[in-house]
Amino acid sequence: MTNNDLSQRGNFGSKFGVIAAAAGSAVGLGNIWRFPYVAGENGGGAFLIIYLAFILGIGVPVMLSELLIGRRGQLNAFGSFKKLSKGKWYLVGLMGIVAAFLILAFYTTIAGWTLEYLMQSFINGFEGKSSQELKNSFETFQSSTFRPVLWQLIFMAMTAGIIMAGVQKGIEKYAKILMPLLVALIVIMCIRSVTLPGAKEGLAFLFNPDFSKITWSVVFDALGQAAFSLSIGMGALITYGSYIKKDNNLTVTAFQVSIADTMIAILAGVMIFPAVFAFHIDPTAGFGLVFIVLPNIFEQMTGGYIFSIIFFILLAVAALTSTISVLEVVVAYFVEELNLKRKKATILAASSISFIGIFCTLSFGSLSEFKILGLTIFGLFDEVSANYLLPIGAFLIVIFLGWVLGKDIIKDEISNQGTLKTRFLGLYMFIIKFIAPIAIALVFLYSIGLLKF
Ligand code: PHE
Repeated sequence: MTNNDLSQRGNFGSKFGVIAAAAGSAVGLGNIWRFPYVAGENGGGAFLIIYLAFILGIGVPVMLSELLIGRRGQLNAFGSFKKLSKGKWYLVGLMGIVAAFLILAFYTTIAGWTLEYLMQSFINGFEGKSSQELKNSFETFQSSTFRPVLWQLIFMAMTAGIIMAGVQKGIEKYAKILMPLLVALIVIMCIRSVTLPGAKEGLAFLFNPDFSKITWSVVFDALGQAAFSLSIGMGALITYGSYIKKDNNLTVTAFQVSIADTMIAILAGVMIFPAVFAFHIDPTAGFGLVFIVLPNIFEQMTGGYIFSIIFFILLAVAALTSTISVLEVVVAYFVEELNLKRKKATILAASSISFIGIFCTLSFGSLSEFKILGLTIFGLFDEVSANYLLPIGAFLIVIFLGWVLGKDIIKDEISNQGTLKTRFLGLYMFIIKFIAPIAIALVFLYSIGLLKF
């Protein structure tokens, strides 16, 4: 870093700002659109138990590790690794930047859809449509060219606008407004949903454990889902960590953010499944759950007009606070390593990612026949980032902390230079040295077939 010296780096102004921004990153489409159907399909409560174990045993320690690297390094993901170590560890940071490109490219496809559906809700576009018609409209929209791409670009422009405003006046300010809004909206939606007749069955589907559904591939999905949902393994939290002040208790922050993320994921299930069952719809509708099934429900439900607007605002808000954190990974890198001004860096990052993002969007339409390794471009980016780059990133991050960085630095950061008690330090060190890397490696190698029991 040359022309942007450290004293000019942005930082988060308040503790609530830190939590709002980091939880904003974690809580996203992964919680509201992905978690409910993955959990529902994979054994409900049984999946939930495995998921919670991963969140606690791997997610929280990795999150703490990332925040620590960032705050110690005081730089972007690449720069922080470079500063804290000799050797090639900066490649882990670079891998995070690549992951950010891939994630943002496909994520803005879905985020764009949420804007289309928000608009449809406003103009009462679901009114009077049968389930089949709603399905057809979704498929027609999804496979068209102009509208999904336009919404994707609008979503990216909103993200870029907030990023350009800076860390405190952009990221933190909007997170502090949007996250409480999100919590309020999801609570309203949950109350509506559980008071529908027949809601019980939906809750049973989500919570009753069915262990017969647990296979290695389900365990693999649970790990990928936990990593994706917590935004770990790609440097978003290293970047945010670099904006956290020295007096913030990182352990507490990592716990609070993980708890918030998990609660919102569970609430999303509580919001969606009772409604799905109340209206006798197939709960394993996957992708279409949010864009076909829910409009169908809103259409039949008293007050559906208002609730559909609330729901799609909720989805868009959740997506926006996440895309912000992913774009910031790339922008911080461009600013600090390529010496660009923030505005230029944002324009460069947003436009180059949008360029590849368009291919993801078109992979539901004109490019749907174009496959690599049997997957569309969207599918490939999703799979490669969530199931490969994030777990590998998380693995390398804990190895780096556990075996390279050294206990003194870790203790110094966790105790805020000796001012906080470090009761969990021993446990934390044990987890990042042994438990987390071994667990990630086992699940990973087993699932890709390199290991057999
Ligand atoms: N955690 C976000 C979600 O659940 C997605 C995300 C992944 C954001 C990685 C940042 C980094 O939707």
